[in-house]
Amino acid sequence: MIKIDTKAALGAVNEKEINALRPAAEAAARTLADGDGAGNDFLGWLHLPSSIDEQQLAAVEQCAARMRQDCELVVAVGIGGSYLGAKAVIEALNDQFAAYKSATGTRVLFAGNNIGEDYMHDLMTLLQGRKWGIIVISKSGTTTEPAIAFRLLKGQLERELGREWASKHIVAITDAARGALRGLATQEGYETFVIPDNVGGRFSVLTPVGLLPIAVAGFDIRALVAGAAEMEQGSDEMMLQYAQVRNALYQSGKKIEILVNFEPRLHFLAEWWKQLYGESEGKDGKGIFPASVDFTTDLHSMGQWIQDGERTIFETVLTVESQHHEVVIPHDEADLDGLNYIAGRRLVEVNHKAELGTRLAHVDGGVPCMVITLPTIDERTLGQLIYFFEKACGISGYMLGVNPFNQPGVEAYKKNMFALLGKAGYEAQTAALEARL
Ligand code: PA5
Repeated sequence: MIKIDTKAALGAVNEKEINALRPAAEAAARTLADGDGAGNDFLGWLHLPSSIDEQQLAAVEQCAARMRQDCELVVAVGIGGSYLGAKAVIEALNDQFAAYKSATGTRVLFAGNNIGEDYMHDLMTLLQGRKWGIIVISKSGTTTEPAIAFRLLKGQLERELGREWASKHIVAITDAARGALRGLATQEGYETFVIPDNVGGRFSVLTPVGLLPIAVAGFDIRALVAGAAEMEQGSDEMMLQYAQVRNALYQSGKKIEILVNFEPRLHFLAEWWKQLYGESEGKDGKGIFPASVDFTTDLHSMGQWIQDGERTIFETVLTVESQHHEVVIPHDEADLDGLNYIAGRRLVEVNHKAELGTRLAHVDGGVPCMVITLPTIDERTLGQLIYFFEKACGISGYMLGVNPFNQPGVEAYKKNMFALLGKAGYEAQTAALEARL
């Protein structure tokens, strides 16, 4: 089971200050459980792990098996909550060099999470001459980035492999009834899965949004869901502690939380976490800024700032106890690199000492630090971690006094983009914006 240690956060805040937030944390947890807080029509994620039934899991697995049997590559098209959960889990579980190895099963690629022209060109070139399919994911069914990517990819798939292949190898995950994607899927006869109305994008990884791409990539979605269910059905203590300590630190002037990992495979887990906390808490002029670093890599770039820069940060370190493989540092007669003092030791040991050394140095440098320990990185542990962060986010958002389940701020750029592209209905904004350029 994952666990949390908040001792090294003491110093910047004391136990009294942390304990003073206990009633607020418990009240926030009650508000979540009773469903009577802001955004309460988006609490479907709270009991997802225990409520996903056999039929839903089997449907996802069957679709994934068909895609795996027929396709060498499957492109998951989506942005924000419609891609980050799947990307995070797949990257955490995958062979990290799978892209360079031949024939290791169906690979899931991602598109529609940017508007990079060269990115799209390179992807479309890669797909040529292969057997491939698409999972298009958009709750609203109207988001511009995935809509553009899907239009391009659908056209390419139909041209290259035929309309029949395309209609059998495009799967749409969207709202039950509304939105352009629902209409298109019905018209083209695509297999579809529903994103429940009461589950927002960034809380949707345990719906088909995350589960289907993860299953297509060959991972065990039942173990992922079981891990999340363990967290759902266990005590709230870890979530309360995390929410309490980060809010106490925020109130003491620590405005930035850095999620730290020492495992390259956790990079996208941090990207998912940043979206979860950034979109949920950053509103009404409030909110901890969620940042992330990959150590030891970033100790050689951001390490200086973290050790010595403005003291407005705290860290939450994801520590992983055991690895899947062993690599031992060899002895070298000449020892010109001076490494014989660690010869015979495993890389995991060196990495753990680097982590310990870093945590102690950062605490000494005035950076409070929480530690979340994962016994290993597998589906079950990731399921626990996902649910832990989701629930703690709901609690923390309510403690902060915001609605954690909306994201009104993301509309501003969209309106400007539509106006600048000349979309009908935005004429007044177009003139006003162009006058500023
Ligand atoms: O968390 C959210 O709700 C957002 O990040 C959405 O997931 C993102 O904007 C994509 O939306 P949609 O699935 O409607 O295309």
